Amino acid sequence: MTETNLTIAIDGPASSGKSTVAKRIANDLNLIYVDTGAMYRALTYQALKQNVNIKDEKALINLLKNTVITLEKTEDGQSVFVNDEEVTEDIRENNVTNTVSIVAAHPQVRTEMVIRQQKLAENNGVVMDGRDIGTVVLPASDVKVFLVASVKERAERRHKENVSKGIFSDLDQLKKDIAERDYKDTSRDTSPLKQADDAIRIDSTKLSIEEVVEKIKELIDSTLK
Ligand code: C5P
Repeated sequence: MTETNLTIAIDGPASSGKSTVAKRIANDLNLIYVDTGAMYRALTYQALKQNVNIKDEKALINLLKNTVITLEKTEDGQSVFVNDEEVTEDIRENNVTNTVSIVAAHPQVRTEMVIRQQKLAENNGVVMDGRDIGTVVLPASDVKVFLVASVKERAERRHKENVSKGIFSDLDQLKKDIAERDYKDTSRDTSPLKQADDAIRIDSTKLSIEEVVEKIKELIDSTLK
């Protein structure tokens, strides 16, 4: 194994810093970054836009089969497209954030998404973040990280981010929303959010992004030795 064909899985609950850390590592090691949450968000966005009932699994699968979701690398991260429409910002809106866990709980939706995610990792070194990467999507990953942080810390980070972007933000509501999404993601029947047996747990509550990145790089170095 070399650095170029490494497979790194980063799982964890909402707003634990997965995507920031994953992007940083992918950039530094020249690996492809795959944000699987963005894929579930893109489908949710499309369903809301087309008035597809997000509780209707069949209708969602039909929609997904006709939806091309593209993740495109940019200088500061990644752009997301649904068919030819750029939805990078739209998929972060509250209406998507608060309903995506319902869409992601449908087993058949997950099956199709996992196939697409595994294809993205075929013949490529990747850093993939999500909820089930180490357990289901890429169980043979070279490095598996389970990144956690307290609900309070995660809500405060999201709050700061919103404020800095000039987006209205209510800290107490954020805490409730994050706790609810945690509950939905950990309690669903199909591939719930859970730490893989061989994943390394990193609690980022008291760590900076740089410190988390350093810890993961140490894990990567020891794997390559
Ligand atoms: O990572 P992010 O918070 O953007 O993910 C949005 C939602 O997509 C999660 O709350 C979860 O319901 C779902 N998801 C998932 N499996 C993944 C990635 C995300 O179920 N691999």
